[in-house]
Amino acid sequence: MTETRKPFFYDVTLRDGNQALPKPWNNAQKKDVYLLLLKLGVQGAEVGFPASSEMDFESVMELAKLTAQMAEEGDEVAKNVVVSGLARCIESDIQRCWEAVQYAPHPRIHTFLATSPLSMENVLHMTPEQVKEKAVKCVKFAKSLVGDRGDVEFSAEHFGDCLENMDFVIDVLKAVVEAGATTINLPNTVERYRPKLYVDQVKQVYEALPKNITISVHCHNDLGMATAATVESFFVGATQLEVALNGLGERCGNTNFYEVAIGLHNSGVDTGLHLERIYETAILVSHWSGVPIYIRAPLIGTEAIVHRSGIHQDGASKTKDMKKGAYRPIDYSIIGRNQNDTLSFTSQSGRTAVYEIITKFGYKMTLQEASKLQPVLKRLSEAEGELSAERVLDVFREQFVNVNG
Ligand code: KIV
Ligand code: ZN
Repeated sequence: MTETRKPFFYDVTLRDGNQALPKPWNNAQKKDVYLLLLKLGVQGAEVGFPASSEMDFESVMELAKLTAQMAEEGDEVAKNVVVSGLARCIESDIQRCWEAVQYAPHPRIHTFLATSPLSMENVLHMTPEQVKEKAVKCVKFAKSLVGDRGDVEFSAEHFGDCLENMDFVIDVLKAVVEAGATTINLPNTVERYRPKLYVDQVKQVYEALPKNITISVHCHNDLGMATAATVESFFVGATQLEVALNGLGERCGNTNFYEVAIGLHNSGVDTGLHLERIYETAILVSHWSGVPIYIRAPLIGTEAIVHRSGIHQDGASKTKDMKKGAYRPIDYSIIGRNQNDTLSFTSQSGRTAVYEIITKFGYKMTLQEASKLQPVLKRLSEAEGELSAERVLDVFREQFVNVNG
């Protein structure tokens, strides 16, 4: 199960994520989020789209300069992180991007052009030959700017829609590699199909391109399977994984950073990330973006650690001190979340919940004693709904103590 290849976490929160916020972050806010990314230990960050506005240009330049300054002061993450800007396949965009990112220790120009039949015909109004020519021209131009100081990423936008023209796409990708691109990104710009089809396409590209080229995946979550597509792509050759904090991004978001990180970690992959920073990061990003965390969001939702039914509470309780819980995907301290299993009392709960709640408050109780209190609490819960731990304690004090004299 152990995979020795290391993933390259390339975060797009400050570009794809920010462009989709109802109220995009200003430059000071973007800086705060960027510092969180460095603390997480990301290997790459796409920090904006310099040609899109003066403000984004300034922000990308500021973050590139900040990275250089932090690197000079000895920050290990800043020394190594790739700082990238997005540019359409237009010379003026690429030029502007370089003017902004050039100050970073490892600057990158990321340019993109659609290669799907649907987009070439209906959006770009270009023939496949024209698309190939333009892509090569732009990558050559980008490479002429970065020289040996930085690198070039090319994205075949709408790659997930290229099931029928993969030969053409591979031909374009070989040509842009020839022109100087060293990272080839394969966006599932709109998630329409099952992950297996996309992962097979990624594998096909991986097998067709030289092995010194980094294959990257960038998945949107339109059907809720972006994490699956991203994690499985890693195991067929994709090294760069484009992800976003809290799964922010256009429409249903980009692939969730934390889910990919933990999915790989649980599969024996060394992510090189400070996983223990995940929970705090998620809370801050939710607060700063104004996008609440869904209560059942994997890993970070409030409900992720709550067990309500008697069977689950019993299993959780019996395995609470073990690394692998019966109903727990990870020991939550790995992501800096203090609580592991949280038991609350509902009409579905059993004596284990009573026992755990009461003993957590420091009282002594046997399971037999808990069995006596459970029906009382069950009746109350049928009338009142879920009982908080404090309410259970009150009932224990009032009734159980009295019952037992
Ligand atoms: O989703 C997408 O295709 C993109 C590209 C610009 C990489 O965000
Ligand atoms: Zn995207």
